Amino acid sequence: MKRTGQPLHHESAHGHVTGEALYTDDLLGRYPGLLHAWPVLAPHAHAELTHLDPSAALAAPGVVTVLTSADVAGEGDSGPVRHDEPIFPSEVMFHNQPVAWVLGETLETARLGALAVVAKYQPLAPILSVEDAIARGSFHSGPVTIRRGETAAELARSEHRIEGEIHIGGQEHFYLETQATLAWLDASGGVSLHSSTQHPSETQEIVARVLDIPRHMVTVECLRMGGAFGGKETQANCFAAVAALGARKTGRPVRIRLSRRLDMTITGKRHPFLVRFAAGFDGDGRLQAARIQLFADGGWSLDLSEAILGRAMFHVDNAYYVPALEVTGFVCKTHKTSQTAFRGFGGPQGMLVIEDILDRIARTLELPPPVVRERNFYREGQSTHYGQPVKDAERIARIWGLLKESSRFAARREEVDAFNAANRYCRRGIAITPVKFGISFTATLYNQAGALVLIYRDGSVQVNHGGTEMGQGLYTKIAQIAVDALGVRPEAIRLMPTRTDKIPNTSATAASSGTDLNGAAVLDACRTLRATLERVAAEMLECNPADAHFENGRVDISGRRERVLTFAEVVEAAYRQRLPLFASGYYRTPEIHYDPKTHQGRPFYYYAYGAAVSEVEVDAFTGQYRVLRADLLEDVGESISPLVDRGQIEGGFIQGVGWLTLEELVWDAEGRLATNGASTYKLPSWSEMPPEFHVDFLTRAAEPGVVCGSKAVGEPPLMMALSVREAIRDVVASFGPGVVELDSLCTLERVFFAIQRTRAVSGDAASAEVGAAEMGALGS
Ligand code: MTE
Ligand code: MOS
Repeated sequence: MKRTGQPLHHESAHGHVTGEALYTDDLLGRYPGLLHAWPVLAPHAHAELTHLDPSAALAAPGVVTVLTSADVAGEGDSGPVRHDEPIFPSEVMFHNQPVAWVLGETLETARLGALAVVAKYQPLAPILSVEDAIARGSFHSGPVTIRRGETAAELARSEHRIEGEIHIGGQEHFYLETQATLAWLDASGGVSLHSSTQHPSETQEIVARVLDIPRHMVTVECLRMGGAFGGKETQANCFAAVAALGARKTGRPVRIRLSRRLDMTITGKRHPFLVRFAAGFDGDGRLQAARIQLFADGGWSLDLSEAILGRAMFHVDNAYYVPALEVTGFVCKTHKTSQTAFRGFGGPQGMLVIEDILDRIARTLELPPPVVRERNFYREGQSTHYGQPVKDAERIARIWGLLKESSRFAARREEVDAFNAANRYCRRGIAITPVKFGISFTATLYNQAGALVLIYRDGSVQVNHGGTEMGQGLYTKIAQIAVDALGVRPEAIRLMPTRTDKIPNTSATAASSGTDLNGAAVLDACRTLRATLERVAAEMLECNPADAHFENGRVDISGRRERVLTFAEVVEAAYRQRLPLFASGYYRTPEIHYDPKTHQGRPFYYYAYGAAVSEVEVDAFTGQYRVLRADLLEDVGESISPLVDRGQIEGGFIQGVGWLTLEELVWDAEGRLATNGASTYKLPSWSEMPPEFHVDFLTRAAEPGVVCGSKAVGEPPLMMALSVREAIRDVVASFGPGVVELDSLCTLERVFFAIQRTRAVSGDAASAEVGAAEMGALGS
């Protein structure tokens, strides 16, 4: 029986639950003489570092050394794209930025040592908002414009026109395992690291850059991560480099693991965006033109902000055809943490814009929002603004139709309206939104992967590939692929921790393409080995190689059980014939291309589609809301691992709900992150799970050309959460006619005020006041 397609549990589920699954920092006890590192933190958002004196720290008990720029042999910079992240800065660029690192015998001595370092600063004026950055011309990058058609003329010619501004909130990754790394000098003169990184090859590159040694002297291993969500795509590099520097300087192993507060205050987050738009449409709600300006708050350094902005620009259309579209993007430079990859990678921010515009169009024309959405769907033969044909556009309408049926959308719409007619302050709303998300790294070169599969004479197998496991189930899927491809028992396969000395020059495990790329590379290696073993088995069984049937560790002729060999017997025979029992595999995504000058091409191999219906209930006295029910339909192609995929869909959706309704990042007037712990930063948890939660996969959806016909699932479901925001807006709209302006982050107080505004505008001012008075009464 095939393992792919089976609802197997996550390969580490048992270990996750029992605690036996080890993470980077769990290994610290295995390194005798290990030193602990802690940073000296700058107490300004923007300042010049005028003086740094570590002598008092060096005199403190237990402090071994203090790392400063004087210790850097190579380039003291961890910027992944632009080299703009000095590890030991002379200009402080965000509050709490590390300016030096203290190594101590214990964590306590390192922390006390960091406090003893004398640092003096000349404070400078910080830029803390996108508006301020725009006013002062503070940009990392941009403007970049993608355009199709004559947007200005089409806007002028449109029957109706709306304009507006949207503030989109950022998001803290809140991976359970904070940034962690362990570095030591290996036995042959190199530097080795365990790092909780999504991108071991880049971590290796940056360590080599900082130590000024060739990459072959650096080995990075990622055992697994306790969540990453994009937050370890680049952000692990700096800590790895510091630990490696420390190991180099002291000859002892060095460990860094950030506390939650440190992690929240010094690592990058999802980009907040400011969006300005104008849209023109006809009387039926069909978009004629849109001009969209995206200002991403990149924080202090560039990091991946250009690519993230790019993906936002690629996704402002979501599932809709906009005949004339002009989208312009800027990355603003502010004195905050350097914002980085986060599940969706700019896609969610882009999609939010068009969903917002479509709802405003619907309310302007007094049409049902789902009707306006449907009328604007891509149809067969249409292309995106960057020139990629939406070749399977029919899937959007198919998914939409199926989900409306299965969620009983029409009937529930009526039920919601009836409920609202009968309730003055407790109201319900329902909304349906689609998702079309492009799969592939938009930088074409990253779409390649390697694998190395080793078979030992006892028939046991080690599988190496370049992908990292962060909980998303990549290893589970790859094991399933390898079991089927080799025809072995599941126990025969061992997935090895990801290491740069097994597969070189890997891409980050990101863009949801972990399985597409690495799974295909592993399949390629397994096929090479299988071909060898089939020839050997055919000789042993006296049959055609094509008839040698490998399944579950047994080899026979065409599945008949007359003569049966074990997999190990065939392997041993191959060994005796002096045939190679290891193979490398390689995959590169075909057909993709993109011209960054014309902004035209096919950056995505395919699109992942989905749609969601959410129903919410809101208490108008407080703005408090609950998601009553969510119905999600996701196109995962032919699922390799249905349980894993379901977990990705549920988790992604809830993470999106958190981004849109709960999680608020607050930087104070001094540029300090005020929400720097679980007590001030509200995360979704069990209580946010909709009591009725339906998750389905689109059937008959096999994707040609992708490993096992599957589709990427890591990020797309996050954007289904837009349906919750639109459902909340639907509630607000029930209080009066007209456009409903809602911040992207609809915390309960914002929902409350949006309701108050709608009631006031609708001439219900008296009742709005009554409402406030009643609320006051309730409060007392
Ligand atoms: N799921 C879990 N449990 N933990 C994670 O850190 N990261 C997400 C997604 N799902 C993440 C997750 C992100 S941002 C991406 S890009 C993908 O997983 C990466 O893995 P994949 O390419 O194998 O899907
Ligand atoms: Mo995911 S944001 O591409 O790591």
